[in-house]
Amino acid sequence: MGIAQRVNPHILDLKPYQPGKPIEELERELGIKNAVKLASNENPLGPSKKAIEAVREALSGVNRYPDGASYALRTRLANKHDVDPAQLVFGCGADEILELLAKVFLAPGDEVVYGWPSFAMYPIVITGMGATGVPVALNERLEHDLDAMSAAITDRTKLVFVCNPNNPTGTSVGAAAFDRFVAGLPADVILAIDEAYFEFVRRSDFPDSLAWVRRRPGTVVIRTFSKIFGLAGMRIGFCIADPEVSDYLQRARHPFNVNRLAEIAGLAALDDLEHEKRTRELNAAGVEYLTRELAAMGFETWPTDANFLLVETGAAAYDALLRQGVIVRPIASRLASMPIRLEVSE
Ligand SMILES: Cc1ncc(COP(=O)(O)O)c(C=O)c1O
Repeated sequence: MGIAQRVNPHILDLKPYQPGKPIEELERELGIKNAVKLASNENPLGPSKKAIEAVREALSGVNRYPDGASYALRTRLANKHDVDPAQLVFGCGADEILELLAKVFLAPGDEVVYGWPSFAMYPIVITGMGATGVPVALNERLEHDLDAMSAAITDRTKLVFVCNPNNPTGTSVGAAAFDRFVAGLPADVILAIDEAYFEFVRRSDFPDSLAWVRRRPGTVVIRTFSKIFGLAGMRIGFCIADPEVSDYLQRARHPFNVNRLAEIAGLAALDDLEHEKRTRELNAAGVEYLTRELAAMGFETWPTDANFLLVETGAAAYDALLRQGVIVRPIASRLASMPIRLEVSE
């Protein structure tokens, strides 16, 4: 029997996540320096200086395992969000929270409803557990079609992902539509609201997802330190859920899934309000600049509530920009795989 015959059948179906091209790889290939990476929605200002300082000080302690309970960070975030510390679960990036949700709740035969195109990890964690993804096409404005998502829910639906703001479109759903959608969800469906870009949101009617965590058992809000806090390389994210869901997620995680430096960096970053504010302002100015200038050049963009912008170009733009040392993320293949096809110029 070959190896492939011994692999879990649903793992055979997995296609690896395609990360944005690393800066070092492009610089090596082109023999250039100062390449610019826009493909992974990182913080161009870098990490907070307070986080760097805290990590430097903590380096000599890495012979010790981390505090597996993340006591300091847990207490700090629980205060910040006015939740019980037991409601928080930390992960090696928000990615791990997605994986934990899949591990805890999904089995073959279960269905998971999510908008598409959206974050590429959803189909990976779903397929990895042998469950069935039910992608629901975004509407013509490339926003979540919450009515179509409601209609896609069946007796087999175990979990729903709502990515708000949505990666890779940057579009978001407002409170009225979101609240209507959640109010109509069957009580036994787990709702995971992925708010990786929460801190960049500019619309005033953004949903109060934490209010749903308080009100609706089985609701999980996912956040990360990778984006506004500039700690993508540290790998730390978390979720806030009701204590029962959190308890099951805690059971499923590795005891030291968040490393000591990540915890320390996260804690320090939370205190650097100036860095957070500067990042938010820089992003808002960048969104306005790019939207204006791309429009002047004849390119269509979509309104974004995140720290990236979706631009309609031809496929040639990706390679042309790479040759200039600028790494962007082509998403035409994800758009083309929408159940209802949009026009995609490849
Ligand atoms: C919507 C969304 N969720 C989750 C993640 C994962 O974030 P992390 O770096 O915390 O694993 C990303 C990263 O790009 C994302 O865009």
